Amino acid sequence: MEREKFGSRLGFILISAGCAIGLGNVWRFPYITGKYGGAAFVLIYLVFLLILGLPIMVAEFAVGRASQKSAALSFDVLEPKGTKWHLYKYGAIAGNYLLMMFYTTIAGWMILYFVKMAGGRFTGLNSEQVSGVFQDMLGEPLLMTAFMVLVVLLCFAVCSKGLQKGVEKITKGMMVCLLVLMIVLAVRSVLLPGGKEGLRFYLYPDFSKVAEAGIGEVVYAAMGQAFFTLSIGIGALAIFGSYIGPERALTGEAINICVLDTSVALMAGLIIFPACFAYQVQPDSGPSLIFITLPNVFNAMAGGRLWGTLFFLFMTFAALSTVIAVFENIISFTMDLKGCSRKKAVLTNLFGVLLLSMPCVLGYNILSFVTPLGEGSTILDLEDFIVSNNLLPLGSLVYLLFCTSKLGWGYDHFLKEANTGEGVRFPKGVAVYVKYILPLIILFIFVMGYYTKFFAA
Ligand code: PHE
Repeated sequence: MEREKFGSRLGFILISAGCAIGLGNVWRFPYITGKYGGAAFVLIYLVFLLILGLPIMVAEFAVGRASQKSAALSFDVLEPKGTKWHLYKYGAIAGNYLLMMFYTTIAGWMILYFVKMAGGRFTGLNSEQVSGVFQDMLGEPLLMTAFMVLVVLLCFAVCSKGLQKGVEKITKGMMVCLLVLMIVLAVRSVLLPGGKEGLRFYLYPDFSKVAEAGIGEVVYAAMGQAFFTLSIGIGALAIFGSYIGPERALTGEAINICVLDTSVALMAGLIIFPACFAYQVQPDSGPSLIFITLPNVFNAMAGGRLWGTLFFLFMTFAALSTVIAVFENIISFTMDLKGCSRKKAVLTNLFGVLLLSMPCVLGYNILSFVTPLGEGSTILDLEDFIVSNNLLPLGSLVYLLFCTSKLGWGYDHFLKEANTGEGVRFPKGVAVYVKYILPLIILFIFVMGYYTKFFAA
């Protein structure tokens, strides 16, 4: 059977951007930036996107397009005979499932907050009561399960309609709405009286803040955020390379996707930081930043219920576009490995993902005694740690070495694939950098990750 392709180039770019743009941009980026002191962190992060993320994204697309398979078979197709690169399929598959094991829960929170905002649940509450709403939610496993199930059902329903009629059509629409909504909200927030100080925090680098947090930790956080936000390392983007033809060179496409992803993250910051300062909300409140502080912000704003509803709607779009993209990947793993139909792959995975998502939901209530990463940590933290601190950097390393080493697919094959088609080509002078220096940087992130997590005080 002929492999289904995207209907248009715009479809490919928006779906890949939809995969990249997600909770990483609208939830993780603002709170990490807030935690590590603002503009100086943003600067380091931007440098890493360019020197670290971009080449790996090109590598993933190249492997996908050359093999015309998902990560479950792409290495089998391209590797030299007798080598073992294909074993990484297990890493990639595990990575995609593990990511979804916590992502579906947070995506559910987004929908729930959208519903609460629209229903006026936060109107008139003070900030203590607002965080009470979040705590109450965590204590209600049935409610959280219901919204997680809603996310899983919605997204598999979209995927079951096929690549063009389901994934491409729906995600394209959501992404266009998201981009428009972001711009409106960013303008609204920047114009808030008292928001200027927030802009300063966000846009004017103050390196003494980096020194305060410890340069090593800041650099590590910036690198981790770059991997997470670009969706690299577990073949989540490679799959979309397998759905395109030879018309466009891959570096140009990767640049488009990076630019879109980065603009959304930067705009999320533009929405959040001026608002934080205008309403005296601490920007370093951590992962709960959005859930326990933004409703206050919207409360204090004229027309806040509408703005808040729109905001959580856009968060929901961002999260769902990522879930749909990763589900598409999971479905094609099953189709590639079992040779079954899309319908059958959807059904098996539907039940699988529902079950796998339960530990994260229950980790906040019934299973809250499970603290795998030390006191106060949750099952979500463990799943996130395995994906973000292990599979993404190690997987990126695998893709990179596969594309640059003679023992793998090799640099010549990679370059030929990346440069097939029109548009920006992979730069000539970077061979030494991508073959030797970049892998070392990644290894460094990995080791640092462990050090900060387990040994640093
Ligand atoms: N990039 C996605 C986000 O920002 C997360 C993701 C990571 C998706 C890895 C796929 C693979 O939310």
